[in-house]
Amino acid sequence: MGVGIAQVFAAKGHKISLISINQESLDQGKIAIQNSLERMLKRNRITSEEMKNTLNGVTTFTDLEDGVKQADLVIEAIPENVDLKLKIFAQLDSIAPASAPLATNTSSISITRIAAATKRPDKVIGMHFMNPVPVMKLVEVIRGYATSDATTQLVMDLSRELGKVPVEVNDYPGFVANRILMPMLNEAMYTLWEGVGGVAEIDTVMKLGMAHPMGPLQLADYIGLDTCLAILNVMKEGFGRQHYQPCPLLVNMVMAGKLGRKSGEGFYDYSGGGKELVVSNSFK
Ligand code: CAA
Repeated sequence: MGVGIAQVFAAKGHKISLISINQESLDQGKIAIQNSLERMLKRNRITSEEMKNTLNGVTTFTDLEDGVKQADLVIEAIPENVDLKLKIFAQLDSIAPASAPLATNTSSISITRIAAATKRPDKVIGMHFMNPVPVMKLVEVIRGYATSDATTQLVMDLSRELGKVPVEVNDYPGFVANRILMPMLNEAMYTLWEGVGGVAEIDTVMKLGMAHPMGPLQLADYIGLDTCLAILNVMKEGFGRQHYQPCPLLVNMVMAGKLGRKSGEGFYDYSGGGKELVVSNSFK
């Protein structure tokens, strides 16, 4: 998601430092931005000049300090692992300019807990984008316990400047988006696991019956099954309710490395590039 976030900021003229520990993922990120922009160019959504400027606006770094030492705002988009987030925020706090807000694109982890790893909890905030970032209008803006009005206002205004619609919510596990989305995806998995319907049948019911652009199993593959599992576990631990118990099928699939689109297989098989929806052999 970091790549999509970098793209939408660069498209509005911001100078972006895209940071990863892995040069290969940065190279892939630049290609993903190029592909997305080409798609927009083909549909006359942007000019070739805008495409060039957006690409030139993104510089890649493998060194965290080099990337953030002059930042006006930092947005973290690492995997949904709380220990990793706490470690990164403590590091960011010591190297980013003291005036810079530190935002996290977390899908469910407590902003208050992340903020407590820093000495600037008033400047720590959730800025939760949706995939695909260049297309989806929502930014869920999450205030932690100590997030200041000034930080919230800045992030709300910035989101609007990006052409997004920010929605301010409070800091409880899963916030609003995943509190509502994940139980639905989990229920679709239970429905499959219990043999009530097949993959294609479940997704077709929700696409044609409820006008969802993607069926819940396709969407879970798209988000990443490991991410879905991590979010459900955060809500299960945070609320202590059985209601959020991840479907055993989801747990098994993640253990087997079937993570959805990113690993090439989940409920669907993406070995053909993912243009056609092909149900995975495991569910035929
Ligand atoms: N970059 C730029 N443009 C893109 C794009 C990208 N990566 N992906 C799609 N588009 C554009 C297409 O060019 C097309 O543009 P036009 O309308 O100008 O023609 C438009 O988006 C629609 O794309 P497609 O015609 O290729 O395909 P589609 O109609 O099936 O839409 C989709 C694709 C937008 C992904 C749609 O299936 C959809 O909305 N799916 C649901 C996505 C969703 O629910 N996201 C939230 C996930 S939850 C999350 O992200 C957060 C979390 O915490 C888990």
